[in-house]
Amino acid sequence: MAKIITVFGATGAQGGPVANALLADPEFKVRIVTRSASSAKAKALQERGAEVVEGSFDDPFSLVRALQGAHGTFVMTQYFIERPDFYQLEIQQGKAVADAAQAAGVEHVVFSSLDAVQKTMGFPCLLYDSKAHVEEYMKTIGLPVTVVKYPLYYESYLSLRLVKKLEDDTYEIGYAIEGAAMHAVSVADMGFAVREIFKNRAEWLGRTVGFSGGKHTIQQHADILSKHLAPNVFKPTKVTPTMTVS
Ligand SMILES: NC(=O)c1ccc[n+]([C@@H]2O[C@H](COP(=O)([O-])OP(=O)(O)OC[C@H]3O[C@@H](n4cnc5c(N)ncnc54)[C@H](OP(=O)(O)O)[C@@H]3O)[C@@H](O)[C@H]2O)c1
Repeated sequence: MAKIITVFGATGAQGGPVANALLADPEFKVRIVTRSASSAKAKALQERGAEVVEGSFDDPFSLVRALQGAHGTFVMTQYFIERPDFYQLEIQQGKAVADAAQAAGVEHVVFSSLDAVQKTMGFPCLLYDSKAHVEEYMKTIGLPVTVVKYPLYYESYLSLRLVKKLEDDTYEIGYAIEGAAMHAVSVADMGFAVREIFKNRAEWLGRTVGFSGGKHTIQQHADILSKHLAPNVFKPTKVTPTMTVS
């Protein structure tokens, strides 16, 4: 019988490719959790065979409902930067999913975490530390978990999340680590990596997997984007990296 995998964030960047990769494999049945079952993205996944469950990180009962009978779950958490309590909120929401997974007896949780910056570097990076906190909680309560860590998404450039158009028609990449080479991935590829983790539970349980599709500086990203996309998208041709200080 196909194993049910509940995918959180399936209408978003990380969870979407995970749901799509699992939908393409008869070993799995996909259940997605969304705040709006009538959204175009939820409907598209339903048409491809996903079961759609309405639920929210803020509604613990909906989380248990979404996880009931599931063999596995892919869990991402969101930071709501516009909310003053975003750090605590992400921790609270992540813990709520963890508790629900435990209550439902889920056998394999794949959790999208990030490094514990405060603990390892001695200064805070709230959107990393919140996820690390949830990861620690999952381990403390004994959830069967594999941790995955996504670096920067290449797709963030295509959706113009990270770039700003300037008056001279060039685009500026605002990112905090100019100069240093850093890892990045295509989230589309990572869906298949997560699927492999679910397919090989015994091999990956208890482990942490850092994803990387390449390691480049922001200047190299800018050069690649200018070379391949500028003629059509980034007019006239130049993408200028800048450093944002926060
Ligand atoms: N951008 C990067 O380069 C990068 C790299 C590493 C890690 N991250 C992390 O990735 C996370 C964001 O993931 P993403 O890029 O996939 O975001 P996204 O594309 O904005 O999607 C967000 C997803 O979260 C779901 N969601 C939001 N609030 C929810 C709630 N209350 N209950 C249930 N589901 C909810 C949404 O579902 P519905 O709207 O359908 O309810 C949607 O599927 C952030 O925590 C960020 O720190 C980002």
